[in-house]
Amino acid sequence: MTEDLERLQKEAEAELSASKTEEELFAFRTRYLGRKGILTGLLRNVANVAPEERPRFGKRCNEIKAALTGKIEKALLEMAFRKKDGELLKEKIDVTLPGRRVRHGRLHPITMVREEICRIFAGLGFAIVEGPEVEKDYYNFEALNIPKDHPARDMQDTFYVEDDIVLRTHTSPVQVRTMEKQRPPVRILSPGRVYRPDSDISHTPMFHQIEGLLVDRGITFGNLKGVLTSFLQQMFGEETALRFRPSFFPFTEPSAEVDIRCVMCNGAGCQVCGQSGWLEILGAGMVDPAVFENVGYDSEEVSGFAFGLGLERIAMLKYGISDIRLFFENDRRFLEQF
Ligand code: DAH
Repeated sequence: MTEDLERLQKEAEAELSASKTEEELFAFRTRYLGRKGILTGLLRNVANVAPEERPRFGKRCNEIKAALTGKIEKALLEMAFRKKDGELLKEKIDVTLPGRRVRHGRLHPITMVREEICRIFAGLGFAIVEGPEVEKDYYNFEALNIPKDHPARDMQDTFYVEDDIVLRTHTSPVQVRTMEKQRPPVRILSPGRVYRPDSDISHTPMFHQIEGLLVDRGITFGNLKGVLTSFLQQMFGEETALRFRPSFFPFTEPSAEVDIRCVMCNGAGCQVCGQSGWLEILGAGMVDPAVFENVGYDSEEVSGFAFGLGLERIAMLKYGISDIRLFFENDRRFLEQF
């Protein structure tokens, strides 16, 4: 009987060491130690053993059971460790690899120029106000002294939304909206998008302007020149030469266009300035009494000046960009240069 037990143990141990997977180990455990397992069966049938052999038999059975249980547990544990090691090896990270580069966003050149201009005028006491891009014909034209069928309307091609509603062609309507709401003194700057059906190397259907307006008692053309000179020299450099040329706008009288000495050739004449040595930079003038009348200001009592400029043009000159369309193509290779 005991010999049978010794053989059984040897066989079981050989079988155990041949078990390579968890499934095989579980099957082995069931076969020997399960409720219907071989060892369990032997212990249950202890009555078949001769009475004097029973204690030894029972003891051996329990020893073999304990030995097999211990070995199974050890094998399962080793298997679990091997599995974990494999996973760790597969997942290993090379901490010496360079990190992933974080791409920084940056401000659009138009935004940078707008912020710079707003900062300069804030220093001169101007407040920033904004107006709607979908605008009434009245504010875009009529109130600015550009009646229907007036030839001055041809200066600005227009997107019509409805008969009396347009996409604003300039930021000047904000002048009127501001003066309607506010008594003098007025000192505002109004940046924003404007629209005209034009598209070529120097025009896009949407572009940006900044409008300025200053109204108070006793404002003269001298004040206009002083403020705009200060602005342009802060923007383009102390040494920048300016000239004021007579011009025409329906909403100002007298009107002027302001040029700066060409930033590309310094006045020698080049392609950018059309060989003239000068660059037109903004339109300006003394607010026309007809505009004051439309907003209920008394032009005997107050006077003022206004000006308007295109942001794209300024950005193109400042950064040496030759095609306006580059601003709106959102090509990162272009935008990342600023
Ligand atoms: N609104 C004009 C334009 O779009 C620019 C302008 C010229 C604005 C003279 C003004 C001004 O306020 O006084 O071309």
